[in-house]
Amino acid sequence: MLVCPEDDSGNRHMAIHEPQRIPLAALPTPLVHLPRLGRELDDAQIWMKRDDLTGLEVSGNKIRKLEYVIADAQASACDTLVTEGTCQSNHCRAVAAACARVGLHSFLLFRPEAADSPQGNHLLDVLFGAETRSYSRIRFDGDHDQIINDVIAELLARGRQPRYTPAGASEPLGCWGYIRATAELADQLQAAGIGECDVVVPLSSGGTYAGTLVGKLLHRLDHWRLWAVPVSDDVAYHQYAVGRLCRAAIAQYGLPIDFDDAALRLVDGYVGQGYAIPYSKAIETIQLLARFEGIMLDPVYTGKSFCAVLDGVREGRFGRERPVVFIHTGGVFSDFAWPEVILQGLPRN
Ligand SMILES: Cc1ncc(COP(=O)(O)O)c(C=O)c1O
Repeated sequence: MLVCPEDDSGNRHMAIHEPQRIPLAALPTPLVHLPRLGRELDDAQIWMKRDDLTGLEVSGNKIRKLEYVIADAQASACDTLVTEGTCQSNHCRAVAAACARVGLHSFLLFRPEAADSPQGNHLLDVLFGAETRSYSRIRFDGDHDQIINDVIAELLARGRQPRYTPAGASEPLGCWGYIRATAELADQLQAAGIGECDVVVPLSSGGTYAGTLVGKLLHRLDHWRLWAVPVSDDVAYHQYAVGRLCRAAIAQYGLPIDFDDAALRLVDGYVGQGYAIPYSKAIETIQLLARFEGIMLDPVYTGKSFCAVLDGVREGRFGRERPVVFIHTGGVFSDFAWPEVILQGLPRN
């Protein structure tokens, strides 16, 4: 059960019934100040919530969502978790690791085709014993629902009890991962003496932002401005998808809040040429943070979204009047799948 602060009408506590959860992540993750990077950028106040440190094999944002999805799978006597992503998907790797930890079978559907020689996240999928199947992007996108249904039917015919979770575990249940994370961050910010602030998250399948938005409303964190940086699709799509997910979570769990699309703050301009296509400015951002703070970002999610934070800092929108807090959602294994891209322009001797 999560307990909310006092509301306007004087109710001391609103008791919210949190769904069942299985602890898999190393929580709370640290909230850290980035003083060297801040000094480099004219004394900006930059903070980071290190959700890349939720564990090694289960690192990143996905494990917070999977704590609920896996608890639900176990409560429903399922023995197999089916999900989807690219072969460098952090989500698929976290599913494979978490399933290995609790004794479930994982079945990963990849698009486009998996590389012949597994690297980065895909290497770990193999190590964790995941069963994988690859499809061309055209076939997967065109026949998506049919493919999922066929795989579920095949698993049932094999005597398994499958549960499907969508890309990124961005279903209403998965949103609880960041509803809970929001309370964790609020406590840490209060302990650090931080009141008004800008909080920034990367955005792709939507569960991280949707959960954080719902958590902000539930916990009455009116002093946060909550931003998301799309790294996959356009702003119009994300507005629609995140709004729909927030409303679904609120309805499904009877949460005592109203969601208005005006709460959505999306920072446009950081997708580049497309999802998982790196660009130079994001790579420079990765290199800058590594050099000044010894912290790794990734080229698909956090490099692009932290690039938006640093542009905001340089243009005076973030980190000046109030601190900016970036939620580092992980993804570092994909750095090892793209070494030439990550090291671009660096001296190597
Ligand atoms: C490392 C990382 N950061 C951010 C995201 C985006 O989170 P979400 O899919 O919940 O929008 C993802 C997954 O898509 C991810 O793997």
